[in-house]
Amino acid sequence: MYTALDMRRRRAAVRSALEGRKPHAVPGSARAFASANVALVKYWGKRDEALHLPRTGSLSVSLGGWGSEATLSLTRKAAEVWLAGEKLPPDAPFAARALAYLDLFRPASGENFVLRTRNTLPTAAGFASSASGFAAIAKALDALFGWDLPEKNLSVLARLGSGSAARSLRSGFVEWKCGRKADGSDSYAAGLPVRWEDFRVGAVVVKRTQKPLSSGEAMRRSVETSPFMAAWDATAKRDLRAAKEAIRNRELKTLGETAEGNSLAMHAVMLAARESVFYPTGETLSVLAKVRQLRAEGAAVYATMDAGPNVKLLFEARDEAAVRRAFPKAVVLVPFPAGRK
Ligand code: PMV
Repeated sequence: MYTALDMRRRRAAVRSALEGRKPHAVPGSARAFASANVALVKYWGKRDEALHLPRTGSLSVSLGGWGSEATLSLTRKAAEVWLAGEKLPPDAPFAARALAYLDLFRPASGENFVLRTRNTLPTAAGFASSASGFAAIAKALDALFGWDLPEKNLSVLARLGSGSAARSLRSGFVEWKCGRKADGSDSYAAGLPVRWEDFRVGAVVVKRTQKPLSSGEAMRRSVETSPFMAAWDATAKRDLRAAKEAIRNRELKTLGETAEGNSLAMHAVMLAARESVFYPTGETLSVLAKVRQLRAEGAAVYATMDAGPNVKLLFEARDEAAVRRAFPKAVVLVPFPAGRK
């Protein structure tokens, strides 16, 4: 929950990102799409809860056509949130978060929003959709009001919905810069100019149900109680440098080792929090063991996990057959489809 002061700071951050543009009553609707992203160097821990400012920079790869679509229009009646063709009760967790976010953008004339969202992520892939969801909403706001904001400003706006959404505005590899300013105006994401057509992301689903504890709550608990938090900050900074260099050189081994180590370090931070947070299940650990086995057999396959029990695999096209043999149910995604920019 945000305090009154938090809300004032959030509104000020929106005003600053809009650089003089304003929401205003408009007819019709606007639709936008944003890709989901998988963090290779994680965002874990906020330095500012209200503005979703991270303690360190992070790095992800976007998943092309897998993501969320948002359609927005204005109404004189009550606000509505629809997900996959179903109207959500306003107190459903996603609806409540989306409505609180959209409230930052209501026209002064008092209209409410009707938001329709749809995920193109296969539910079977077990991705969280808050990053692509809030990035799509930010883009739909931009289109609805005809703002034509620079990508940097859209990244700031998406960040105010969900931190990791800052990285979902574009395709390919994306770095979210930590920034230093108190108002967050320098904490936004930008793309790395690298296409890696052979790069693959595999999704191995362990559990499809909602996670027991939100990433926000788990982060807060880590920051407040984990004895490993300081070590995490230093690790994340080092990993970010190593991962960027590996991406520049298209070195899967270095990138994979960095991403896998970074993800395990993040889970170690949570594991040591009081009370401990532990998302992996027994099945997650079996998947990780299988990944090690694949490596022992010569395939360059690495694993990363977010705030949940599902595993994402990182590999190149040449090891796709080995991955499919080991994980027949894995969904394999191609972040850089050949022939597309
Ligand atoms: O965007 P949030 O607040 O749900 O945080 C996401 C955190 C991780 O997914 C675990 C890591 C990341 O960098 O995406």
